[in-house]
Amino acid sequence: MARQHTLEIADHRQVTPRLRWLALRAPDLARDARPGHSLLARCDDPADTYRLLRRPLFVAAALPEIGQVALLYEPDEPGLAWLARRSPGDSLDVIGLCGRALPFADRHCNLLLIGAGAGLAALVFAARIAPPHTAVTLIAIADDQDSLPPPFLLPSAVEYETVVSADLMSAVTATLQPTTGASPLAWADAAVAALPYHLLATLGQIIRAVRLRHPRGFARALVASPPGCGFGACGVCAIDLRSGVRLPCIEGPWFDVREFRG
Ligand code: FES
Repeated sequence: MARQHTLEIADHRQVTPRLRWLALRAPDLARDARPGHSLLARCDDPADTYRLLRRPLFVAAALPEIGQVALLYEPDEPGLAWLARRSPGDSLDVIGLCGRALPFADRHCNLLLIGAGAGLAALVFAARIAPPHTAVTLIAIADDQDSLPPPFLLPSAVEYETVVSADLMSAVTATLQPTTGASPLAWADAAVAALPYHLLATLGQIIRAVRLRHPRGFARALVASPPGCGFGACGVCAIDLRSGVRLPCIEGPWFDVREFRG
């Protein structure tokens, strides 16, 4: 169950000109964190109109051997810009762990991860802790090279491909349904996506077009919640899926791609 914590910042550094890596001293969270879990950070900039709204940030790594969890984020709004000015030794007020963990099935041999934006942190985490028998490919898409997670955050066994494009929809389509050559969906045993919500129905259509069938459980997608309560009370994160209205903050962030309507 998510609880409030005051955590010491153990490390905070820029890993690209746009992305920051924030490690927090939190032995209990480091033991329990899994891909998809997030922390709600209190970003306390007095000039920020929305300072009461905690910012949800996906955990990008758990380092139980040194008792730390790490976040990967882009300080692209006032709250996260405040966070970017915190230094090692400072305290951070967070609530977590929020959300549900990505299930890894034993049978998966070839795991395809594809994402863009804030959800890439959860995919980096998934790539870092995938079971040893799993071959992982991570495809990261951004409109700027500096928004792509740097390769040194990933295990060397992970196949890492990057795409820089200002048109995310076209980039996803060209990557997963290429006009020449094989689609990475063709050989995947499972796919996990962290893409904007409006692309997820299209992702389902691409999967059906490439693989001809799209069984339940083959592809999961992460739905990021906007800043909100984080525990199912405010409804700001509600999404309308085939199975009904769902709250990603407590029922997600992972949903079967078959759930998204076109
Ligand atoms: S963030 Fe409030 S219900 Fe999900």
